[in-house]
Amino acid sequence: MHNPHPVPDYLIQSPEVRARFERIRAREVILEVKDLGKTYDSPQGQTTALRNIEFKVHRREFVCVIGPSGCGKSTLIRILAGLESHTAGEVLLDGKPVEGPGPDRGMVFQGYTLFPWLSVKQNVMFGPEMNGRGKLEAEREALQWIDLVGLSKFVDAYPHQLSGGMKQRVAIARALANQPRILLMDEPFGALDAQTRCKMQAHLLEIWKNIDITVFFITHDLDEAIFLADRILVLKAHPGEVQEIIEVPVPRPRHQAQITSAEFMATKARLEELIHPPAPVDTEDDEGVHPHVFRMTSVEDNVE
Ligand SMILES: Nc1ncnc2c1ncn2[C@@H]1O[C@H](COP(=O)(O)OP(=O)(O)O)[C@@H](O)[C@H]1O
Ligand SMILES: [Mg+2]
Repeated sequence: MHNPHPVPDYLIQSPEVRARFERIRAREVILEVKDLGKTYDSPQGQTTALRNIEFKVHRREFVCVIGPSGCGKSTLIRILAGLESHTAGEVLLDGKPVEGPGPDRGMVFQGYTLFPWLSVKQNVMFGPEMNGRGKLEAEREALQWIDLVGLSKFVDAYPHQLSGGMKQRVAIARALANQPRILLMDEPFGALDAQTRCKMQAHLLEIWKNIDITVFFITHDLDEAIFLADRILVLKAHPGEVQEIIEVPVPRPRHQAQITSAEFMATKARLEELIHPPAPVDTEDDEGVHPHVFRMTSVEDNVE
């Protein structure tokens, strides 16, 4: 029988994946964002960076955010971190409104934000010491976090002695050392080469599996989002709004070989459709479709 409304492939979940999402939804809500908006005032006028943003994140869920450049991803995560105010709506962490930064949220940015004058151990100890732990206790905890990110051999090294991937491991250890409820990551692997990036993704999933942490992760890399996430929040630009929230149908544990699986490819095709919609063909102005190309060769030299 012909079905007039076939379910798109990316919405089809195996029984295991469906059961996993049911378990996630049954967990408590850690983060709730209600009708969130942000408008910047500037001498040139107002810019609405975010509008009507609404979603919930459950305990130990891994949520990725993707969207075109300038759609408000960094603005959103900075508001969640309490580094920036919002102009509409509400952000609740464990049911309480977020007002300013706090140790219940750990941040990891793309740029290396380690203190260059402190060793790896001192960088990771910094938060616990600020939060009132004694030096010995802070040191003991720091060594555990450094071990978790696989850098035990480098406790006394300084940031300039580490590779990009290692620096981001330290940044993760430092964020986790405050024992946050949620880890907020803004394109943390964006500056790494492709191979290191893949290793860091697998490593982050391993850490996430082993500790009680919820992750909110921004990226513009579709493969990265699908590989990491339980759900993907797709934003659109001007103004930044939630376009769709996708439950990733790829089973866990994740591994690189899944990149060619039917679920992975169906999800990626859907994301591409949302992020890069086909450009409208402009029949009035042919210039826009076929820009004039200046030729410095003769026709016989054609390369294709
Ligand atoms: N401090 C600011 N003042 C005015 N406009 C800003 C400010 N920060 C960001 N914006 C604007 O808000 C929008 C979203 O920016 P951003 O959150 O950095 O996007 P993304 O991280 O998705 O690339 C952009 O249009 C940007 O120009
Ligand atoms: Mg950004």
